[in-house]
Amino acid sequence: MTKKSKFFKEFIKERKTVGAISPSSRFLTRKMMAPIDFDKADVIVELGPGNGVFTKELLLKMNPKAKLLSFELSNNFYEHINANINDDRLVLINDSADRLEHYLAIEGIHKVDYVVSSLPLAVIPNEVKEKVLNSCVKLLGEDGTYIQFQYSLNARKLLQSKFKEVKYKFTVVNIPPAFVYSCSN
Ligand SMILES: C[S@@+](CC[C@H](N)C(=O)[O-])C[C@H]1O[C@@H](n2cnc3c(N)ncnc32)[C@H](O)[C@@H]1O
Repeated sequence: MTKKSKFFKEFIKERKTVGAISPSSRFLTRKMMAPIDFDKADVIVELGPGNGVFTKELLLKMNPKAKLLSFELSNNFYEHINANINDDRLVLINDSADRLEHYLAIEGIHKVDYVVSSLPLAVIPNEVKEKVLNSCVKLLGEDGTYIQFQYSLNARKLLQSKFKEVKYKFTVVNIPPAFVYSCSN
């Protein structure tokens, strides 16, 4: 089975949480990485890695001492990444992103430089969204950046209610076309 058909199968099974019919394109990957200064990125958190398209690129660009904590709710995607990516800098967590603070505390981490989120904000429950974003705001402080892609501008108001600065860019070279937000306080 190809990567795309595996992804589509997971979309059919977990429609409410996967939120996309295929993995992100390399163009969207590039746009998601663009706000990151990898020289200053000691701790990166990834939310919703799916089959690991951004995970691989982050690990490729991260410095040798940096750490990546990736939260994936789907068991199938978690198993896929576990079987295909072997890197000591990656801490892969098979749980919901709203338990972010709990897992970071276990790792002794209280400050994050970047959050790279693929969470489908349009379909996940409000209480999960609130908890995730509040934790991200707290952990990113004034120097960190929250990067999020979405297929519409529906999340703009929510993100503006959490972050002082919310910028976005549009990429048509993805199925479907996507907006990439870059948010900071
Ligand atoms: C739109 S897919 C993106 C996958 C991949 N990053 C990409 O760009 O191709 C969204 C991902 O978020 C995951 N997800 C949804 N809700 C989640 C949650 N509460 N915590 C962690 N992951 C979640 C889904 O299982 C899925 O892998």
